Order: sequence, then structure tokens, then C-alpha cells
Amino acid sequence: MVKIAVFASGNGGNFQSIVEKSKEDKYINYSVELLIVDKKNSYAEKRAKNLGIPCYIVIPKEFSTKENYEKKIIEILNENEIRLIALAGYMRIISSTLLKAYENKIVNIHPAYLPNYPGKDGIGDAFKAGAKETGVTIHYVDEGVDSGEIIYQEKLKIKDGWNIEKLEEEIHKIEHRIYPAILNELSKKIKD
Ligand code: GAR
Repeated sequence: MVKIAVFASGNGGNFQSIVEKSKEDKYINYSVELLIVDKKNSYAEKRAKNLGIPCYIVIPKEFSTKENYEKKIIEILNENEIRLIALAGYMRIISSTLLKAYENKIVNIHPAYLPNYPGKDGIGDAFKAGAKETGVTIHYVDEGVDSGEIIYQEKLKIKDGWNIEKLEEEIHKIEHRIYPAILNELSKKIKD
């Protein structure tokens, strides 16, 4: 069983699906040990409480440098024997301190078919651009914005008449299905 940490900043919908799926027979290779959030009172924190998963609130501005902020996170990860990190709506750039400590062990989900529509609002940007299709991407994390090596992508056709809420709903459906499955596959490789 590979011990996973999930990082989130807001809603925590992906976090919840990753935890819930890990309780199903099909997803036997990983267990979610903890959630890391970068602010107080997020909905993700509330979900962690309801799911019985420890939540660590580590707030960047309480540290003198980004390096010290990430060192604190590494301390928590080491104490809990974390081997894989899943960013799930964690809206920060990871720097070399954490990247070096977890080389090729940090993955992210992005709500667009990269390299299209990177950044904070992948869904809104695709919608506003009038795109006919978009999708979801799971990729390794590097120091750029949504720019690391792609692990898996799925396309989604945007149908005539969809509003942004419908597009968000369809994107999240894909995310909640594929992220646990990919984490399970990656964990299997780490384990073997
Ligand atoms: C998700 O759609 C995720 O793909 C996106 O934030 C949302 C978080 O939702 N991430 C990014 O845009 C990263 N660039 P959630 O908190 O309900 O999982």
C-alpha cells in the first residue's frame, strides 16, 4: 500500500473522490494518509474532518521563505511515510525544495486538455474561448505552470447549449473517475 498525501486549496472535490475510491476493492494500491491545505477554513478541510483524514494547515505567509514553507511540508510528509503526492486544486507553484525531495512523485490534475488552457481557470478559459472540445490532464509536476510530463489525458466535447456550470459538472465527473484510477496505477508501479 502506497501512502499518499493530497494537497488542496479550496473545495476538495477531487480529494474526496480519491479518498472514497480508495475504500473500494478495485483501488487497493494506495491509501490517503493526510490532506495538506494552504489556508484556514477551506471546504477541503471540512471534508477531511468528515472523512476522518488528518488535515494539516500550512500557511505560506507564516514562513520567512518558500523554502522554509516547503521544508515544513516535507517534515510532515516524512513523519507520515508519504511516497506519492497528489495535487488536487492546490493553486501554488511547487519549488525545487519539494520537487527534489519527491522527484517524479508529485502529480497534478488540470481541468483542460494541456497544453491548451493552463493556469488557474482552465474550464473558464476554454468556455470563454468558445472551444468545441476540452478535457482533463493528469501530469507530473515541474517548476512551471501545468507544464510537466503528461501521464494521462481525456477529451470532452463541449455540446451546443452547455453553460459553464454544465461544463464544470462534466469536467469534474471525468476528474473524479480518472484521478483515483491513475493514482492507483502509479502506486502499483511504486509498490512493485
Ligand atoms: C479541479 O478542477 C482541478 O482540476 C483544478 O482545480 C479544481 C479543484 O477542484 N486545478 C487546477 O486548475 C490546477 N491548475 P476540487 O477542489 O473540487 O478538487
